[in-house]
Parts: sequence; structure tokens; C-alpha cells
Amino acid sequence: MFIIIQKFARSFMNHPQVTQINKYVMLWLVICLLMVILMVGIGGYTRLSGSGLSITEWKPVSGITPPFGESGWLDEFSKYKNSPEFKKVNFDFTLSDFKQIYLVEYFHRLVGRLTGFIFIIPFLFFIWRKMLKPKHIYLLSTIFLLSALQGACGWYMVKSGLASNPHVSHFRLALHLGLALLIFSMLLWCFLSYKNSPQISAPSSILYLSLFTTFILFTQIMLGAFVAGLKGGLIYNSFPLMNCSLIPDEVYFHGLFNLSSPAIVQFFHRVFGFIALFLILFLTFNIFHKKLDQRLGKRAILLTIACIAQIILGILTLIKIVPLELALLHQLLAFIVFSLAIYLVFPIYLALCIKSQRKNHKELGNNLIFSIMPGNKEL
Ligand code: HEM
Repeated sequence: MFIIIQKFARSFMNHPQVTQINKYVMLWLVICLLMVILMVGIGGYTRLSGSGLSITEWKPVSGITPPFGESGWLDEFSKYKNSPEFKKVNFDFTLSDFKQIYLVEYFHRLVGRLTGFIFIIPFLFFIWRKMLKPKHIYLLSTIFLLSALQGACGWYMVKSGLASNPHVSHFRLALHLGLALLIFSMLLWCFLSYKNSPQISAPSSILYLSLFTTFILFTQIMLGAFVAGLKGGLIYNSFPLMNCSLIPDEVYFHGLFNLSSPAIVQFFHRVFGFIALFLILFLTFNIFHKKLDQRLGKRAILLTIACIAQIILGILTLIKIVPLELALLHQLLAFIVFSLAIYLVFPIYLALCIKSQRKNHKELGNNLIFSIMPGNKEL
């Protein structure tokens, strides 16, 4: 992942039309993208290692330091002892067991704060030195607000696991992951628009198809978060059948749209994975069939390969009953697949935008000529 983004960034940085100012801004954006990916990875590790509910408070400022000395640790441990996770699951935990899970969650929060600083300090500097275009200032300010919201959203998620049931709400987990994906996508969009990205002409039908595919991928990622949140990967560990049938029995008992049933959510996640692959294959076929720009074909093939790899990885994660490394890789690859979808949409969108702007200018010009023509009654 890191190598792909680095290569991706370097190819843009060496572009002859990229100015020195743009190079600094782009480098900063690449670092922010890497930090978001790192945060997603650490977040996934925190959940999969069962560490996410170890810190029972949210202190955005004072929480920056870990507990001091034995008394500090004992204090934190006594707070944890009141949590449903300790009472129902980890009742045999010693202080040293607690320290282990605490430090994982602490590290997750610490890197979150660090990401905020890495974003905001250069951002203010670039504004001060007038190195950002106004439209990017709006976009980046929105990203900053969403990042602050992400911190609160993380706590909102953790809180749901501190009430009575020691599991976080899968809806809140999906919200947290969805917001991370939105922040990542907006940063990527900003990065692509900062450099002189190629405009690749394609019919509007291709743009709509690629936008729809991206939407389905987003839905699939949200369903993945539902599976993870409900621990739906621990049941029906076979593929393609779910206990001798393509459709799990729960569909008949609980109804098809019960999004709190681990089996039904897992079923939807399987189905949407193949819908996404079908759409990507259809898109790639259309790009080649219509003999569109080769660069678009290459991007579509990359997306197809990544999606196939993601499906294989998903199946392996399921069959092997969610080992930490596979589940983590599956989560990170989801971000790569989504980035590749944006990488495909962006140049088509750019070309169609510029085309419609030119058309508007032309019409405006014609209207102007028409309006100043002698004999025009509107004059
Ligand atoms: C385009 C295809 C796919 C995408 C984009 C995708 C994405 C995701 C995402 C984002 C998660 C959530 C990870 C987390 O929050 O920790 C997830 C979880 C999961 N996915 Fe997929 N997935 C795809 C296909 C599949 C397929 C075909 C299967 C199996 C048949 C599968 C099995 C699983 C399982 C078992 C989990 C739960 C893992 C855990 O508990 O950590 N996925 N998926």
C-alpha cells in the first residue's frame, strides 16, 4: 500500500508542469493519506486484538499522556473493572494483561492526534503563505472538520460498548470506518486535482457507470464493517454455500433486511462483493469495447485485479475464521480498491467538467455576440 502511494506520488511529482509550491502541497497530502491508512490499520488491529474498550474515558487534551506510575495504572484499571467487558469477558485479567490492551488503544488515539497535527500545522502555514487555491481551502477545511468529528465519532462508537453489552454497535463502527473512507477519498481527490492530472475523454455513460460502481463499493465496505462489528466472520465459515444453501436460513426466520443479524449481513457482503466485481468487469469491457483512451483501460484493469484479490482475500478470511493478519489485510485492501475506483473516475469527471465549462463559455460568448447585434429587441 505504502509503496503504491509512494510510486503514485513520485510519478506526479516528476510531472514537468508541477510547480515547486504544488510539490510541497502534494507531499503534505501524500503524508496525510499515509497517516489515514496507518490509522485505519491501527484501528483494525485495536478491534481485532480486543483492545478497543480498554480506555473508558475520552479526554481529548489530558488523554495525550499515558498513566504515570503504579498508582496511575491502578486508577485506570479500577475504572476498567467497572466496564461490562471486564465483568463479562476479561474478569481474569491481571494488571499486566490490562496494560497490554490499554497501550494498543492509547497508541491508536495518540496516532490520531498526531495525524491531526500533521494536517493542521502545514495547512495553516500554506494558507498563510498563500500556497493554496481558494477551492482547495474549502475542501481541506471540510476535511479538517470531518477529522475532528472522526475523533468524536470514535468515542461515540467506544461508548456503545461500555453500557451493558461489551460489544460496540456495528452501525457506529460502520460510521467510524465510513468517515475514515470519506476523509481518505477527499484527500485523494484534492491530491489528484492539485497536480496536473490528465483529463481523459469518455462518454457520460462511462462516468455514471464508474460513479455507480464506486457507490456500490462504498456500500460493500459499509457491509464489511457490519460483518466485522457483529463478528459475522465467525459463523458460516464455508464458501460458496452457507450451511448447504446459498441463502442462510436466517433470511426466512428474521426477514431479508435484518441488518443486525450476523448471518444476513454476511450474506449481503458476499452478494455485494460479486455485484461490485460484475460492475467493474462490465465497466472495463465497455472501456475496451468503445476503444477509449489506453490510460483509462490500464486504470480499469488495475481496479479489476484489486477487486478479484479482495474477494479471494475475503473468502480466505472467512474460511480461516478471521485470523488477525488476513482480516487486517482485507480491511486495508478495501481502501486500495476504493482509491483505484476514484483514480478511474477522476480524469473522466475532469474532462467532462472542462467540456461542459467550455460549452457554457461558448454559449455565453454566442449570447453576448447575439445580444450586441444591431436590431436585437432585447437591447
Ligand atoms: C469487493 C469486495 C469486498 C470488499 C471491498 C470488502 C471489504 C470489507 C471491509 C471494509 C470489511 C471490514 C473490515 C473492518 O472493519 O475491520 C470487511 C470485512 C469482512 N469481509 Fe469483506 N470485502 C469484500 C469481499 C468479501 C468477500 C467475497 C468475503 C467472503 C465471502 C468477505 C469476507 C469478509 C469477512 C469475513 C469480514 C469480517 C472480518 C473481520 O471480522 O475483521 N469479504 N470486508
